[in-house]
Amino acid sequence: MDNASAPVADWIVPAEMIQDPYPTYRRLREEAPVAWVPALNRFLVTRFGDCLAIERDQGTFSANEESSTSNMIRTMKGRSMLRKDDPAHSIDREAIRPALSPAAITASWEQIFERNAEKHLDAFIKKGESGDVAADFASPFASDNLIAVTGLHGAAQEDMQRWSRALIAGIGNVQSDEDVWAQASRTSDELDSTIDDAGAFLKMNPDSSMLSAFVNAETPLPDEAIRANIKLAVSGGFNEPSHAISSALWAMLTHPDQLRAVRDQRASMLDVFTETVRWISPVGMYPRTTTREVELGGVVLPAGARIGVVVASANHDERNFENGGTFDVFRAKRPNLAFGSGTHYCAGSWVAKAQVASVALPAVLRRLPGLRLAPDSTSGFEGWVFRGTKTLRVQWGR
Ligand code: HEM
Repeated sequence: MDNASAPVADWIVPAEMIQDPYPTYRRLREEAPVAWVPALNRFLVTRFGDCLAIERDQGTFSANEESSTSNMIRTMKGRSMLRKDDPAHSIDREAIRPALSPAAITASWEQIFERNAEKHLDAFIKKGESGDVAADFASPFASDNLIAVTGLHGAAQEDMQRWSRALIAGIGNVQSDEDVWAQASRTSDELDSTIDDAGAFLKMNPDSSMLSAFVNAETPLPDEAIRANIKLAVSGGFNEPSHAISSALWAMLTHPDQLRAVRDQRASMLDVFTETVRWISPVGMYPRTTTREVELGGVVLPAGARIGVVVASANHDERNFENGGTFDVFRAKRPNLAFGSGTHYCAGSWVAKAQVASVALPAVLRRLPGLRLAPDSTSGFEGWVFRGTKTLRVQWGR
């Protein structure tokens, strides 16, 4: 494909971005905010204003990727709402709206999240006065929550973690590692039969879950679309909240003055959550494809251009966020793009805020007084398409 008038960022080595992509993002924002990246075979868009312009024009910047080039469609073995444009997209999304709404959180999910937090903190605390709060609290907690919200009731929390990680690895497999594809394919097949079994049960025993909403809809979607949408929720619904919990704890524990402000109620948990997902965005980049020739950020993109919308970079853009690379719960409140924007704005954002900001973070600070990083704690953050840490060693008590 002709890469049009875009500057070429041939200096980018994706494997090097896994450790810390932010220096690359800064250089791109300054030198080539809409850049052709040969190593990724796509354009990367890294400034806030340009990312937002993409989200405001779904007709030009389509989410409807071709099946043959879409990592997500290959991983899910089907097309979820996130790879459809309206009106097809809105049919899928409308079906699960009640299950993820603020009303459902109050009626069903908050009590379950609270129970799961107590259960996993009880087990965590039993082990002593130090431990891995990412692996042994954030992950099982987010996993059990997602089993309830999706309706995959027979699943063990370990299965949910394994499924989610394998799907996320498939979606983020920009270097097309064959082992990652094989694992994603096996996981997708295993999930299909789990979804079908749970769906048959929920048809007879409806509840508030996403899968129940899908199978009991007046006009149910085709099975393939139901499976793809539940697999979408499995991928994002565990990975991102569990990352947000450990990233928020890391942020507070490495900024003790701000942790003190939270404990003294000078800053809220929602401030911490919002600032955390801006500072270390769990979803770093997602794709769009142009439907026509279009100018973006002074660059002419051809029709059919494959774009990476780098929201993690947009969320550090100095044009929008002063000292964007700094964690600051007191910064002026401005919308960030951690949950996307426009028609595909995260359908699970209320569920995420409830489990992370309303339940997990307050429970951890309440139940682990004197919480601090363990002496052997390292940041462990990795990834750029998705970013977070699977491990965070902490101590508590005197
Ligand atoms: C901190 C937690 C979360 C973050 C940062 C996050 C981030 C995102 C982002 C950036 C998108 C838009 C991607 C795009 O436009 O291509 C998205 C979409 C979506 N997310 Fe989340 N997410 C989170 C939690 C969840 C949870 C808990 C669920 C489900 C239980 C969920 C379900 C979805 C769904 C279904 C979509 C597709 C929406 C659509 O296409 O209309 N997410 N999320």
